[in-house]
Amino acid sequence: MLQIDDVRVGYHRSSVLHGVSVEVPRDGVAAVLGHNGAGKSTLLRAAVGLLTPTSGTIRLDGEDITRRKPHERVARGMAYVPQGQQSFPHLTTAENLQLVADGRRRGKESVAEALDLFPALRALSNRRAGLLSGGQRQQLAIARALVTEPRLLLLD
Ligand SMILES: Nc1ncnc2c1ncn2[C@@H]1O[C@H](COP(=O)(O)OP(=O)(O)O)[C@@H](O)[C@H]1O
Ligand SMILES: [Mg+2]
Repeated sequence: MLQIDDVRVGYHRSSVLHGVSVEVPRDGVAAVLGHNGAGKSTLLRAAVGLLTPTSGTIRLDGEDITRRKPHERVARGMAYVPQGQQSFPHLTTAENLQLVADGRRRGKESVAEALDLFPALRALSNRRAGLLSGGQRQQLAIARALVTEPRLLLLD
């Protein structure tokens, strides 16, 4: 489903990944292991389009998405849960989910379904995300990604 082929990517002049290839099969799971600073987050940022490789290709279901913007990848079924569990700290739990749901045909239903998976979040609907615990914030970050009803979930 996702094919990362010989990707080189880094930050400004510092290159981090020197030709990395990973394949995620349809209905499958792939795990990337590596020590701190090995480049796992960098790889996922490239996969979702936050970083653009200097060479190599990224394909989703055969389509070359190497130069596609993140929102175009999300529209094609990718969702990304960043390592830092970033949410908008001044918005409530409910607002963080609603922000993603806005404009989506099944927005309301998908928020309800995401909350069914994380019942603890329901009780925290009106709490600002910045005041959640680390684990609760992690739940919110995953729930938020699930609101897009992804076919491929990238978990950092
Ligand atoms: N925003 C950034 N700017 C410059 N260098 C970065 C940035 N983020 C990470 N790096 C560097 O890229 C390398 C890989 O980092 P990262 O992908 O975060 O590793 P991992 O997720 O495997 O711990 C590290 O050497 C790190 O210092
Ligand atoms: Mg990391």
